[in-house]
Amino acid sequence: MAALQVAVSILNADLSAIADTVQQIAAAGADSIQIDVMDGHFVSNLALGPQVCRAVADHTTLPVEAHLMVERPAQFIQAFAAAGATTVIGHIEVLDDPAAFAAAVRRLGKRPGFAINPETLASRLIPHLGLADLVVVMGIHPGAGGQTFMPETLTTLRQLRAARQGQLPALQLDGGVNQDTVIPIRDAGADAVIGGSFVFRHSRGIAAAVAALKLT
Ligand code: DX5
Repeated sequence: MAALQVAVSILNADLSAIADTVQQIAAAGADSIQIDVMDGHFVSNLALGPQVCRAVADHTTLPVEAHLMVERPAQFIQAFAAAGATTVIGHIEVLDDPAAFAAAVRRLGKRPGFAINPETLASRLIPHLGLADLVVVMGIHPGAGGQTFMPETLTTLRQLRAARQGQLPALQLDGGVNQDTVIPIRDAGADAVIGGSFVFRHSRGIAAAVAALKLT
């Protein structure tokens, strides 16, 4: 079984030392960095604009994934593409035209992704799977890190895994990932996980946390 890809979410990172944090994430063997963008409407929190994305991208060669937890994701494709994002992810719950979103991202040479919340049925996303390079299955309600993993979201993960044709889109589980939950998440078919608070709160540091999630 292939090792899990690990993306690190910087929502809970020390943003006062972002260059050093990003370099530590890369040195730890993470596969990508995720920027959690929040508009205070789609989720109640407000977080991480294009400037933070640019600050991250300027200090790493890792792929940078912009996770747009915003009501109008298409409005922000250009800004995050210009700020160095390699992947731009919109929530299927607010994408009236997933094909148009994906096409707009690809026109800028970036990878389109769709994210899906715990209460959204997989059937909402399955018809559009072929449009995306990445699908983010939320393991928690979006808006904050440090929440408890919701095991019922593994049903969505399994359904998406069963529905996809071939290896794309990559299936990434986001939220509540730690050394214990990563096992059932992998077994349910995830190609990747996102480490957030587990990575930055780990007693032995970022590298040990990333290694614990890779399951090599
Ligand atoms: C929440 C974000 C997640 C979160 C993960 O809306 O999308 O990436 O930061 O944090 P943990 O891993 O702490 O649940």
